[in-house]
Amino acid sequence: MRVAVIGAGVIGLSTAQCIYEQYHSIVSPLTIEVYADQFTPLTTSDGAAGFWQPYLYDNGKVQETKWNKETFDYLVTCLSSAESVKMGIFLQSGYNLFSEPTPDPSFKDIVLGFRQLTERELKMFPGYNYGWFNTALMVEGKTYLPWLMDWLIKKGVKFYQRKIESFKELAESGADVIINCTGVRSGDLQPDPELKPGRGQIVKVDAPWLKHWILTHDLKAGVYNSPYIIPGSRLVTVGGVFQLGNWSRQNNSIDHKNIWEGACELEPSLKHARIVEDWSGLRPVRNKVRLERETIPSSATPIEVIHNYGHGGFGLTIHRGCALEAAKLFGEIVDKKGEGPKARL
Ligand code: FAD
Ligand code: BEZ
Repeated sequence: MRVAVIGAGVIGLSTAQCIYEQYHSIVSPLTIEVYADQFTPLTTSDGAAGFWQPYLYDNGKVQETKWNKETFDYLVTCLSSAESVKMGIFLQSGYNLFSEPTPDPSFKDIVLGFRQLTERELKMFPGYNYGWFNTALMVEGKTYLPWLMDWLIKKGVKFYQRKIESFKELAESGADVIINCTGVRSGDLQPDPELKPGRGQIVKVDAPWLKHWILTHDLKAGVYNSPYIIPGSRLVTVGGVFQLGNWSRQNNSIDHKNIWEGACELEPSLKHARIVEDWSGLRPVRNKVRLERETIPSSATPIEVIHNYGHGGFGLTIHRGCALEAAKLFGEIVDKKGEGPKARL
């Protein structure tokens, strides 16, 4: 059975990993190939802060909450292995700040030690009257993606750098199942009016004295421009903007100024930080993640596709749960094609 994964961001690589983990001893031979025009360190998943929290997307959808939890629990388990440093994962605590009381989030029972802020803590953040404290995880794409690629290479997965123009192209070259993990550009392969870019811009700074993340939440007239500060293993990520429908990957000097002023007001010590770089990326925004099977009719054999895209500003937060679900859908195709152990009996 030949599986072609399109996309080498966190979604494509983790989906390839879960399919291998669950089927390499059941389906024989199982060939997994990953096709992408951009690899680490150039994907959106590499540029992201790598913070575990369903940011700008906490509408309590049961399925996504389950996938977020599966990802968190998986990463916590990995923390106790020697691989955790190579994976780029570590625990980190911090603050979510609001101007008014807000209902508890869906991740309240997923993260560690969730609680409301005390009056003393709120005094540290003038202008904010309500908030939460908890311990969450960092999963930094620039480290995690190379780790995933090494893992897959060791298992014999092959990588091809090229742009895929259509699902048919891969089916005609012999792929039995195609996994579509193309993120914000999925619409190029199959029109999807629900999928939109949610442009983000961040500033990476050298400020090693900052040890806690701080996220503020202040949605004004549909335009999201609310500061956040997320310390990483080497640099601190300062954000953030969310511009729905904006396809520009260029850094914008007005956005830079707004991000920087907002962040320095929140954390005045940032004025002493050395600015290292700006980065802009496009979140693959959708009303809900598209994670489903589709059989596309074709003049030859119908094309089996599993879609796994549209993870907005929470791809690293949800990736493992989605990859497990995609692997489950792959299992349905294995059963249908009679490639599993039952068929060989
Ligand atoms: P990508 O990482 O974009 O990968 C897509 C892959 O598909 C690439 O390899 C690309 O080359 C390939 N591809 C696409 N089309 C084709 C084609 N036709 N042919 C060949 N290859 C193709 N999420 C978090 O959970 N935590 C965070 O802290 C966080 N911070 C963020 C900060 C910013 C500023 C932004 C913009 C996003 C942030 N996100 C965060 C969101 C996260 O980055 C995305 O949800 C995630 O990267 C999506 O992963 P993906 O694998 O679907 O897409
Ligand atoms: C973002 O998309 O900008 C983001 C995602 C998760 C945490 C913080 C910021």
